[in-house]
Amino acid sequence: MARRIAILPDAVADQIAAGEVVERPASVVKELVENALDAGARHVRVLLEHGGKTLIEVSDDGTGMGREDAVLALDRHATSKIRSAADLVGVSTFGFRGEALPAIASVSRLGLATSDGETEGSELAVTGGRLERVDPAARQRGTTVTVRGLFFNTPARRKFLRSTASETRAAHDALATLALAHPGTAFEFEVDGVVRLHVPGGQTLVERLAGVWGRELAGTLVPVGYGAGAFRVEGFVQRPADAKPTGRRTQLFVNGRPFKDPFLVRAAEAGYRSSIHPGDRPSLLLAVTVAPDAVDVNVHPAKLEVRFRDRIGVERVVEEAVRDALGRLEAAAPIGSRAGWAGSDRGAGRWEASGDLGSQSELLPASATDEEPASFTAPLLQMFNTYLVYEAPDGIVIVDQHSAHERVLYERVMAQMRGSGCSAQRLLLPLALELTDEELDAFETYGEEIRAVGFEAEPFGGRAVALHAVPAPHPRFDGGACFRETIADLARGRFGGWANRLERFVATFACRAAIKAGQPLSEPEMRQLLLQLFETDLPPHDVHGRSTIVQLPREELERRFGRR
Ligand SMILES: Nc1ncnc2c1ncn2[C@@H]1O[C@H](COP(=O)(O)OP(=O)(O)OP(=O)(O)O)[C@@H](O)[C@H]1O
Ligand SMILES: [Mg+2]
Repeated sequence: MARRIAILPDAVADQIAAGEVVERPASVVKELVENALDAGARHVRVLLEHGGKTLIEVSDDGTGMGREDAVLALDRHATSKIRSAADLVGVSTFGFRGEALPAIASVSRLGLATSDGETEGSELAVTGGRLERVDPAARQRGTTVTVRGLFFNTPARRKFLRSTASETRAAHDALATLALAHPGTAFEFEVDGVVRLHVPGGQTLVERLAGVWGRELAGTLVPVGYGAGAFRVEGFVQRPADAKPTGRRTQLFVNGRPFKDPFLVRAAEAGYRSSIHPGDRPSLLLAVTVAPDAVDVNVHPAKLEVRFRDRIGVERVVEEAVRDALGRLEAAAPIGSRAGWAGSDRGAGRWEASGDLGSQSELLPASATDEEPASFTAPLLQMFNTYLVYEAPDGIVIVDQHSAHERVLYERVMAQMRGSGCSAQRLLLPLALELTDEELDAFETYGEEIRAVGFEAEPFGGRAVALHAVPAPHPRFDGGACFRETIADLARGRFGGWANRLERFVATFACRAAIKAGQPLSEPEMRQLLLQLFETDLPPHDVHGRSTIVQLPREELERRFGRR
């Protein structure tokens, strides 16, 4: 019988491998940025055109390559990262197969410009896997890889590409993951000439999270730090109150390597137990550390998944780590329901009935329902012009002044909007404000609420509006600034997770109308603010879900100072 088995030519083998490694532009971004990071880059720049269908370019300032290495790098199984199968255990670089560059080159027109900073730089051109040119080039140390016409020679695969927006989003996600893995490295992401992400180097993980996931989401996360047996888990999980059914972000790392694992995410969710509504999906970033031989990172063609030797163990520790973090959150949580304060503590001499405080208040008019005015006589300090600190029977209480005032205003304005509406104050001279298109849209969308809260504003030609009257929630209120900031927030869809439109508007307004952190307050103002805060149906957090009150329990102090 004639021989039927043949060895495939390299070019075909590369294209087949490419099918596994290079699925879409996002995979190219992932592979090239991983190479840049493996090369020790401090700065990585990624350009994308048409979702990467026409151009993907990744530049770095890493070690670069000499000419011989640059040519070799395009060969299958050419890698500088491991030398033997044994090196695979505990490999700390993203790459180790020597597959990515040849795979990408086999399905595109690839340019590689590189210099090791010592020898003359090189520029290589490859078309569909065929090396066309190797030229000398002047360039600084580092590497730029340019990928054009992805899948130009595999039309069947090209057809599978999604819309430009969808490919761009996938590439953005791939880059975000690596940016979170390396907070020390600066990243820039430019899409069709517009910078979409720009984070500086030398960041902490928290700063990087704020840069990549946005400040708002990052502000809802609490730290995780937990170890048991062979595992250690670090990272951040979202506070239960902030979890929403949609729009969550998750990121897992093992020994610094990103991976996907829905079951491990589920284990983390199990750590929330009953503290979230069923259906809410908390955001989280968890970094697991294990012995190198306890995890196999070479089980997935694009290295997106890993295999743990002790699967049950890692799930258990992740669940415990989340529960531990949320448990500590509760211990630090707020005290102070109205009952606990105005009731029992009044007897203890901290809250005394007295009628002389309303006149001292500059910040807040006394609330109308206050039949029995109370005063608050414990020593009170403002720290960093932001926190109010006082002694309570069972610990030291710290109140965030902005968050407290926001809470007070939210309740009051909500009640007024549902009732007779808010009072307004006419401006002597109307204030003309220029809005963006998005802000004008928001101005129209929320016109009714804007009027009801006490702003009187009308279109004033072009993109301008004239502001004739503003509400007057407190004497330090800046109506023009509040109007502008509130409209900008509404345009940006801040508080977008709030389903109720009136609540969304009032939350936005209250946040912008409240006194800010950094504002010095007089003592009567501070006392009045606290009184009004205790009048509210005090949940322990503000409209963003951030803590309003934090207590340092006396027991905790005693434990730390060795008194117990
Ligand atoms: N940006 C870069 N800077 C310096 N060297 C690079 C860069 N990109 C690639 N190289 C070199 O080229 C080699 C081949 O890269 P390639 O991505 O194909 O394989 P790898 O990273 O070793 O393994 P993997 O296929 O798992 O990614 C690398 O081992 C590295 O030595
Ligand atoms: Mg690689």
